Formats: sequence, C-alpha cells, structure tokens
Amino acid sequence: MSGIECLPGGTVKGSIRVPGDKSISHRAIILSSIAQGTSHISGFLQGEDSLNTLKALQSMGVTIEREGDRVSVHGAGLHGLKKPANTLDMGNSGTAMRLLLGLLAGQSFDATLVGDESLSARPMKRVIEPLQAMGARINSQSGCTAPLTVLGQSKLSPINYHTPMASAQVKSCLLLAALYADGESIIVEPATTRDHTERMLRGFGCPVVSEGRQVSMSGGQELNAMDIEIPADISAAAFFLVAASIATDSELTLEHVGVNPTRTGVIEILRLMGADITLLNQRDIGGEPVADIVVRSASLHGINIPEALVPLAIDEFPVLFVAAACAEGETLLTGASELRVKESDRIEVMAQGLSTLGVRVEPRPDGIKIFGGPMAGGVINSHGDHRIAMAFSIASIAAGDLLRIEDCTNVNTSFPGFVNLAAGAGLKISMHDGNFNT
Ligand code: S3P
Repeated sequence: MSGIECLPGGTVKGSIRVPGDKSISHRAIILSSIAQGTSHISGFLQGEDSLNTLKALQSMGVTIEREGDRVSVHGAGLHGLKKPANTLDMGNSGTAMRLLLGLLAGQSFDATLVGDESLSARPMKRVIEPLQAMGARINSQSGCTAPLTVLGQSKLSPINYHTPMASAQVKSCLLLAALYADGESIIVEPATTRDHTERMLRGFGCPVVSEGRQVSMSGGQELNAMDIEIPADISAAAFFLVAASIATDSELTLEHVGVNPTRTGVIEILRLMGADITLLNQRDIGGEPVADIVVRSASLHGINIPEALVPLAIDEFPVLFVAAACAEGETLLTGASELRVKESDRIEVMAQGLSTLGVRVEPRPDGIKIFGGPMAGGVINSHGDHRIAMAFSIASIAAGDLLRIEDCTNVNTSFPGFVNLAAGAGLKISMHDGNFNT
C-alpha cells in the first residue's frame, strides 16, 4: 500500500477489535527473551515495528516461534544473548531502537543498530548520555543519531537520573540497562509516562518500586517466564474514537482495549471536548487494565488541552488535531514539543495537511492552535508517518470532497489491516497505488 483514498462521509457502526498494543508487544518480546523458561504471548502486534524487535532478539540467539499473533519465546536468561551476525535493523521504530540500546548496553558483545531515514534522524542523545553515565560505550553519528554501535563488556553502574523530558522510551531503556548494573538505579520523570515496562518487570518477578514519578530497581535479578495476553492498542483505537465521534449517527464498540491510566489521555481529552465515550467490562489482564469502549456521535467543542494529559496521549495528537478541526471553536495544545521529534515533525506535518484542507491553524514551537470549521478535500502527504496517514483517513469523514493521502506504506508499522477494518466499520476508504497525478 502506498496511498489511501477516501470519499467523504460515512457512519461508523458495529464492534471491532484493533491490533495488539505496540508498546506492550515490544516489551513482551524483550523481557521474555532474557527470562528463564518459555513465555507464551497472545495478541502480539504483527506490525513491522514489533516484528523488528522480534527479529532482533532472534538474531541474538533467542528461539522465538510465531503463529499469527501467538508467540512462544524460549528465554535465554539474563546473560544468554549472543552476538548477532549482522547489524540489527529497527526500521521505523524509535521504541525498538531506544529499548534495545538499553538492553545491549549490558551485554558481553558488540552490536550495531540501524534504522530507516526517519529513525536515523531522530534524537538518541537522550538515551546515549545516561547510558554512558552508567558506563556504556556507544558510538553514534555526529548529532548523536543512528547507526549506533554498542561495545560489549562494559561494567554498568547503577544510575540516579532525572529524565529531562517525559519519555517512556528513555525510562524503559534505562530500566533495561539497570537490570545489568550492580546496585539500585533510580529514575525520576518530569511527568508520568506509560508504565508498561515497570508492570511487566513485576510480572516477570522483578521487584520494581514505583512511587509517584520515581521508579527504582536493583540489577542482577533473573526474570522468570510468564504468559502475556496483550490487549488491543488504545493508540490504534484512538482513530476510531475520533471517527465515531465526528461521524453522524454512529455507535461503535472497541473490544478489549488496554486502558492503562498512563495511556488514556485521548479518552480524557475527547471527553473534555464533549465526546460520548463509555468504558464497559473493566477488567485486569495480567497486570494491565482492559475495557470494551463504546463511542457514539457527539458535537465536539474546542478546549485548552491540559498539559498534564500530553504525555498520556502523546501518540494520539494527529487524530486529536482532526477532532479539533471538526470541533466548534478553538483548541489549543501547549507543552507538546516532543511531537516535533516523532516519526515526523507531527506539528508541522499536521499543520500543513490541515491547511491543505482549508482548516485555520497556528503552529507554535510546543504545540498548535486549531480553529474548528469546514474541511475541504485534497491531496495530503503523510511524510511516511503512519499516524499522520491514518489521522487524515479519519478526517475524510468530515471532508467536503475526495481526500487522497500519499506515502502510506508505513501504516503497516503499527496497524496492519487498518484500511479493511476502517472500511468494515463504515469509512469510505480504499487503498490506492499512491500515484495521484494521473
Ligand atoms: C513509547 C513511548 C512514546 C511513544 C512511542 C512508544 C513506548 O515515546 O511516542 O510511540 O513504547 O515507550 P516517548 O517515550 O519518546 O515519548
């Protein structure tokens, strides 16, 4: 798939299950690979990002069998990974690169991590600096970008570190390195971020202590295999939360979605905007809260997005900007400069795309102001960013004319099957060869 074409309108109805959580899928593979014993994973995201993590661990000698979304990982133990024969290709995935960098820092062998054009331009200093402070030896390109080579046989010391930005990738990278450090590491965040690593480490029997924004953990502890049921990804569900909210006469159930409170910022923001969202059958599956989510059409209104919710909805802003464009009045986002260093500069790329559709926007260094109003059709460039491509697909519901989105192949990094699932739910969406000039 390189392009997506959408006719305007559509009513969103029925009951769907979106693919497994991407963040939890990465962590499930990594932690079960260094555990002792066999872990069985279900609901694994079969997207390119998490498959890259899986392949990387296989290249480091871990036996992993996969049948669809079911994966069995025969853990190699804390010190059982082997030197990979080739460079480890992380593709488009910042999570894979940053988390594996932390894991590699504690190994006895050298390894090199590479990524695609987008990933090779993303900031790695945020993980390289604290890892070096722990004693890791890492070679990067000028500007602290990938390819990154981690030299083995470093003796890691524990770290007491205040992360300068709210980033679960940085926190998780350091927790993985801390497993190999001699003593207790303490990491303090400026704001709460997703805590899947901490929850899963506890599941594997490693006592991680979370107190407010501080996490502490001692190194050297063996992990014991466990079975993991991965819930549906709230970041994938978010596209449909907005779709059903802005489409007329809609009612959609999203089944078995992970509703960890460090991820539910999108629900809170949409509710503040007037969305009609209900959580049913709330339950706990293997240490992660899960619910079925019902969303109905609603008249949305603009808000000032509370900054505390920004890290809790960090991946959902492209589609939240679409909600803001469909809302009555102005929506203001601040405190979100991290959006500029995602798979694309999401403030810039969304501002460009919304402007193409005739929406008034005022981008700022750390956010954007969006003025709700009518949207036209047009051709949008997603700049190879999966979430931009999917966000504009949802915008088509409210667009006045045909909407075409270029450069959509990367939708497969996080949401294989998006177009078919969206069409089944009621969007007038189809794949296109992406050549929109003819
Ligand atoms: C992720 C953390 C977030 C998020 C990314 C996944 C994770 O990145 O944007 O898609 O799995 O830890 P940051 O931690 O850099 O904000």
